[in-house]
Amino acid sequence: MCGIIGYVGREEAAPIMLDGLRRLEYRGYDSAGMALNHGGTLELRKCAGRIDNLRDLIGRQGAPGFSGVSHTRWATHGAPTDDNAHPHLDQSGRIALVHNGVIENYLSIREALQAEGHQFHSQTDTEVLAHLIGKHYAAIPSGGVRQRLVQAIRMALAQVKGTYGIAVVHADAPDFLVGARLGSPLVVGLGKGENFVASDVAALVAHTRDAIYLNDYDLVELTSTDFQISSLESGRESSFEVQQVAYQKEEAELGAYPHFMLKEIHEQPVSIANAFRGRIFRENSTAMLGGLNMGPRDLRHIDRIILCGCGTAMHAGMVGEYMIEGLAHIPTEVEIASEMRYRNLPIDKNTLFFVLSQSGETIDTLAAMREAQRKGHRVLGIVNSVASTIARESDGGSYLHAGPEIGVAATKSFTSQVTVLTLLALWLGRTRTMGPIEGNRVIDELLAIPDKVSRILEQSDVIKEIATKYLDAESMLFLGRQNNYPVALEGALKMKEISYIYASGHASAELKHGIIALVKPELPSVFIVPDDHVYDKNVSNIEEVKARRGPVIAVATEGNTEIAKIADDVIYIPPCHEHLTPLLSVIPLQLLAYHFAVARGCDVDKPRNLAKSVTVE
Ligand code: M6R
Repeated sequence: MCGIIGYVGREEAAPIMLDGLRRLEYRGYDSAGMALNHGGTLELRKCAGRIDNLRDLIGRQGAPGFSGVSHTRWATHGAPTDDNAHPHLDQSGRIALVHNGVIENYLSIREALQAEGHQFHSQTDTEVLAHLIGKHYAAIPSGGVRQRLVQAIRMALAQVKGTYGIAVVHADAPDFLVGARLGSPLVVGLGKGENFVASDVAALVAHTRDAIYLNDYDLVELTSTDFQISSLESGRESSFEVQQVAYQKEEAELGAYPHFMLKEIHEQPVSIANAFRGRIFRENSTAMLGGLNMGPRDLRHIDRIILCGCGTAMHAGMVGEYMIEGLAHIPTEVEIASEMRYRNLPIDKNTLFFVLSQSGETIDTLAAMREAQRKGHRVLGIVNSVASTIARESDGGSYLHAGPEIGVAATKSFTSQVTVLTLLALWLGRTRTMGPIEGNRVIDELLAIPDKVSRILEQSDVIKEIATKYLDAESMLFLGRQNNYPVALEGALKMKEISYIYASGHASAELKHGIIALVKPELPSVFIVPDDHVYDKNVSNIEEVKARRGPVIAVATEGNTEIAKIADDVIYIPPCHEHLTPLLSVIPLQLLAYHFAVARGCDVDKPRNLAKSVTVE
């Protein structure tokens, strides 16, 4: 959460940072700001609201300078106001800091600093860190500005508890920028006569493809022509690797679509194919995920699988649970990462532990991974963001190859995660009871998914009409069974997060254990009811809702004309293997939530109170 970009170079820094902030806006959009070093003074521009507000402010006031730091915020401490917007200055007003993360012990430090005469202008934890750096800087008796600044940053960071990715400038050091990280991502971009630091390569790719992903406890010193990375703790030089960022700038642009969410929904035929490309081996009727670095003998010893993640990634894991147990007969559990990190979860040595994360930066998932690693377990990642922290720290895994997902609502990452889990289930299954005929059937079904998704996408207008019909609904139920129970959870999450109506997902048969009390003509129920082994049971649950005058939208299999006689509206998906239906049934739910939210005037790509990567607890 929160996006940072800092710049030192020969160009005007403000337009570069403004463009970078736009590309990072998915990380937070409560307020934005920048501090520029201009002739020995810091020019501070910041305001509540979106980047456009900052652009307007800069348009009115100007923002000169060839170096600086900037920030787009997702509020943790203090409301989204002008004063709480970053950057924050120290007591002298000569040091400016932007920060992503949380300083947990900020209150006690703030009180101590106040007792020493420091005056604060915001409610943020970040301002406390700025003052702490300034205090140490002032106390260092001699040395150059750069040297003192670095030393003061080291001293201040040694005192704080929590997480941070920071960028700092000093008014007296015009061609100098310092970054440091612990728990929040930071990447250095190396240009020609210019250098950058940012929370995500997305902010840099317009300028350079040479990037260094900093590790925890790294501190970087940047000038326009040089850089140095050292350990925050020891001060010794750290090892690093300059990586070429493979990133198409256009991938992160809207093109002809009005919203990233719609663009990403429509990318799914391609992103699903990218997830299985090169991983299917027809000659052996199986799949293989090379990044796991495991052979058949290793796989044979696995007797339990744990899939761990948050939000949509966790829902994909739940689909994986049904799939792996169904196809490979290996006991599988899904752990909510935020819970797992504080549990004493027994994981024995034959358990395969996976973390799932689109961003690869979700702090709870990262912490769960580290907890498992701390116990000596090998952790594998199923991740989209290349070279993200989880991708780098995991002990192997598979990339989704879905391309950047910008819309806050996860869409294509879900189907890509389910695709990778399908490959895993097939691979594991073929080392056990699954014969080649069933293996080939799964392969055929998987290869057919992209075309089937395209057919569903063609129904976007029909789904839009259905969404419009229920526009007055203030809540909604999503119901499904077996493989599609997690899809019901995912459909409800999509609806809540982008349209702000209450929605909940349930296993259909749970209705009569309490939820049915809610059913009334004003409460639409979305049933996922494909032709599967629980179809008749699902239909009985629909009847129970209809008997209580609840409107029903059914997601059913093409050719099923009976369902249209019971449900008020039907969205059809092509027939497919039962375990693979989530790859199809989720698409109408994504479109339903999208059209519903757009029709209600909601900002679907940047829903209120949310950010794309949840990098704070
Ligand atoms: O980047 P991750 O996959 O780790 O993110 C996990 C969740 O924060 C994410 O899926 C969130 O639930 C989405 N906004 C849902 O659409």
